[in-house]
Amino acid sequence: MSVTRESFGFMPDNTEIFKYIIENACGTEVHIITLGATLQSLFFADKNGVKRDVLLGFDTVEDYLEKSNYQGATVGPFCNRIGGASIDIGGKHYELVANEKGVTSLHSNGEFSFRPWKAIVPDADCVELSYVSPDGEGGFPGETKVQVLFRLSQDNKLSIRYHGVSTRDTFLNFTNHAYFNLNGYDAGDILGHTLRLNADEFTPVDELSIPTGGNLPVEGTPFDFRTAKPIGLEIGADHEQLKMTGGYDHNFKLADGPRELTEIGEAVSPESGIKMNIYTTLPAVQFYAGNFLNGKTGKAGKPMEKRSGFCLETQYFPDSPHHPEFPSCLFKAGEEYESETVYGFGLI
Ligand code: BGC
Repeated sequence: MSVTRESFGFMPDNTEIFKYIIENACGTEVHIITLGATLQSLFFADKNGVKRDVLLGFDTVEDYLEKSNYQGATVGPFCNRIGGASIDIGGKHYELVANEKGVTSLHSNGEFSFRPWKAIVPDADCVELSYVSPDGEGGFPGETKVQVLFRLSQDNKLSIRYHGVSTRDTFLNFTNHAYFNLNGYDAGDILGHTLRLNADEFTPVDELSIPTGGNLPVEGTPFDFRTAKPIGLEIGADHEQLKMTGGYDHNFKLADGPRELTEIGEAVSPESGIKMNIYTTLPAVQFYAGNFLNGKTGKAGKPMEKRSGFCLETQYFPDSPHHPEFPSCLFKAGEEYESETVYGFGLI
């Protein structure tokens, strides 16, 4: 195992951004940049032994700042959407940045995703990124300290562990926004990948992608991924929820609350032979099929077309601050948030 570091460029204020590369004995490489604690690349050898970079992303700091749809970024303090872009905690009302359609909050306006983080290398197989969000940043109460530990194992499992604590009661909901394409970032769409997701229910949303309340059974709907099927098989089906969001862009319920690390699904590309198993301690996951990607150029100047990557963003439920029926992610001042998500790579 080894960790190496190189310069990735500079922020507009001249802060240097670094890239850390964790490599294991199989030659699997995870590239993490300190801008947004972002997963920039992940190289894994396909069935022919050819390494493919299975993550969408960019080659420069400028591109991450100007063109990103959160490719690979750490998102916080509250990933996904909050309706009305406001929260109430202990009788106090907090206005957040309404960065989507001027109405809702999406990914906390990128507060964590586009800042420089600090990095240390605690061991030969991991990198720890940390960020201190000042009280009131993006409208959220409390100075919040966050650490994200990326660790690669010899058997090709990338573990992402999150730790957060705030000086005031606040909602904490972190994720990583990797867009995967198991054929490579420049290899067309992901509709032929198969997906299994161990979820009996999903969360219906309105036109603003805000949950309408509660969950619905996946049984008998295009949202049933309990047995693996191609992502493209029913993405165009005549289903109100798919039309609302232009394809899969929904939260799936995994559990009633946080639990021990559990395997929740598997994505497979028959073409490259690469498979990815997903494990998490969190109660939900957003499956987003990259419907809004629109051809912006990414790595090596290659366009990232609609559905050229998919995301499995492990999380608490979207808009949970307004939905008592969903598990709460309100953390008391000083109370510690912890979660772990693992993406494990192998061949079919
Ligand atoms: C959301 C999508 C959004 C994407 C990029 C996902 O988490 O569900 O609707 O387009 O993030 O911001």
